[in-house]
Amino acid sequence: TPPLQPFAIRFGADNGTLEPQGPTLQRRMSDLEGLFADRRAWEQAVADGDPVVYTVVSSPVPEAARELPQSITTIFPGDTGGEFWMTKGHQHPDPQGEIYLGLEGRGGLLLFDGDRAEWLDISPGVIGYIPPGWAHRSVNVGDEPYRFLAVYPGSAGHDYGWVLTHGMGLRARRAETEATVGAETEA
Ligand code: F6R
Ligand code: ZN
Repeated sequence: TPPLQPFAIRFGADNGTLEPQGPTLQRRMSDLEGLFADRRAWEQAVADGDPVVYTVVSSPVPEAARELPQSITTIFPGDTGGEFWMTKGHQHPDPQGEIYLGLEGRGGLLLFDGDRAEWLDISPGVIGYIPPGWAHRSVNVGDEPYRFLAVYPGSAGHDYGWVLTHGMGLRARRAETEATVGAETEA
């Protein structure tokens, strides 16, 4: 396909829409198998209505070499076995940088290069930088939807199996007494 022509995209920072809009997807609890530490709690949540955990709305820019696609992710508030709701997380098979811009709510960006894990607090107006080679997962640590814009190279690709094999180094858990950020080492 030939490169796109210049065009403007209107984004709704308050409702997570892009206009014009490309593909959208919904990830339900059942799509997050093997990711929460507490498997029983995950099974229970799937049985209890299999809620939508997050949605991803993309612009029409395709995931193709030299293009620069964008998408808005909205993670709903909640926890499963005390672990905050989160995205699956992935590596880019062709390691390239990516940026996230916080739009709404309170979240975090968990980064893992297979050796070191890092946690970045993301809120509206904060850009999180994901360097090449770092797997990344987003987490909603608040009580309202957490929403961010992602901008990434179209040829980067997405490897979800890597996280199933390697984990993400850290987990973000709801503290027992308060709904505060609790990023702690994997058991
Ligand atoms: C793209 C990117 C984000 C995520 C989105 C959903 O490279 O990092 O747009 O794809 O936040 O998370 P995953 O893809 O891990 O389900
Ligand atoms: Zn990514």
